[in-house]
Amino acid sequence: MKILVVGGGGREHAVIKSLKKNAKVEKIYALPGNGGIAADAECFPVKANDIEGIVAFAKAHPVDFAVVTPDDPLVLGCVDALEELGIPCFGPHKNAAIIEGSKVFSKNLMHKYGIPTAKSQTFTNAEEAIAYLKAGEFPAVIKADGLALGKGVIIAQNEEEAVNAVREIMCDKVFGASGNSILVEEFLTGPEVSVLSFTDGKTVVPMVSSMDHKRAHDNDEGLNTGGMGTIAPNPYFTKSVAKECMEKIFLPTVQAMKTEGRTFKGCLYFGLMITPKGPKVIEYNCRFGDPETQVVLPLLESDLLEIMLAVNEERLSPDMVKFKDGAACCVVLASNGYPQKYKTGYEITLPKTGENEEIYIAGAKLEDGKLLTSGGRVLGAVATDKDLKSAITKAYALSDKIHFENAYKRSDIGQRALKAKGE
Ligand code: AMP
Ligand code: GLY
Repeated sequence: MKILVVGGGGREHAVIKSLKKNAKVEKIYALPGNGGIAADAECFPVKANDIEGIVAFAKAHPVDFAVVTPDDPLVLGCVDALEELGIPCFGPHKNAAIIEGSKVFSKNLMHKYGIPTAKSQTFTNAEEAIAYLKAGEFPAVIKADGLALGKGVIIAQNEEEAVNAVREIMCDKVFGASGNSILVEEFLTGPEVSVLSFTDGKTVVPMVSSMDHKRAHDNDEGLNTGGMGTIAPNPYFTKSVAKECMEKIFLPTVQAMKTEGRTFKGCLYFGLMITPKGPKVIEYNCRFGDPETQVVLPLLESDLLEIMLAVNEERLSPDMVKFKDGAACCVVLASNGYPQKYKTGYEITLPKTGENEEIYIAGAKLEDGKLLTSGGRVLGAVATDKDLKSAITKAYALSDKIHFENAYKRSDIGQRALKAKGE
């Protein structure tokens, strides 16, 4: 089989390496891929959000199956466009990707179907939003409706921060049209859990749970990033929480989307908060998480391609998705200064990986045979082991053997999870 993967980050590298384990896979094309992915797939310089370019590529190459992973192309209808060419895909259609593409849509869906989430109000007028915020309590959560590169959520501690956030999003349009509508949400507390799931629109099968580390610095300080590291499984996602989530969140969401005529097929990501009043949805993503995928897929025992084909053909069943016991940790090596200004172009030296170790490249390019840094998050050092503590130790030991100038990593990935386990 010849497979097209749309995307070019660490998540895509993890997906590609997993797909390659299936002997049926003859070739993988990555659009655009990156300098590290080039070792595992043929990369072509077509941007992931260039739907016309992707369609032109798919017309010119023999593609049997396509996997679309980033949010932008999914929300823009990449799966619809590829299916029009007769190419079966893994990933939701445009009308289902809206579950991530519009926070107002997903909030209305949750309210309509009684899915637990933070209380909220939607506004299309800045002055009305400000008046509402001034009359309410702080902290308050302000969210731009549309995609905003993961930066569209502001937690305002006081009136001044709230007014500034509303003006920046709705009047200055710092996130463009994504800020035409905003949500003002109740501030929830509790540990966060990421649960990626496979769904064919009827059956939903959760993958092993994970924990992201979104802030740039240790002790969850500094700016929000795309994710500085992950661990799996997440100790807060206990058996009883999992059962409650399945009954109150996972199944009702998939059924609600079907009832709305927006059947969701692909990977549905549940961003959850385990509040004192039970688990609530913080956000939905219409795709695999990054860097959650980098710890989830190494623990997947079943064959990823077979699952993806079953999702596409609407014959998914829970017994198709098996995870190994044990744990995984991913330590992200970033360019110093990320998520703000940083320098790139430094040569990366990589060690040979041992058993149960992986290096997934996110931001690197090949130049004259050398791998050079080219992005904020450069790569993830991943290890799996029998328990979380040893997976963390192994992932850090692997990360210490990777060198490039200007490298930065957090030193406490997984520590909060260990504490939760009493270790
Ligand atoms: P999101 O982009 O929706 O994942 O939000 C980014 C982060 O903002 C989440 O990971 C949470 O830490 C935080 N957040 C979002 N919504 C809320 C809320 N209602 N209460 C408290 N924190 C929130
Ligand atoms: N790591 C968070 C996300 O993929 O949205």
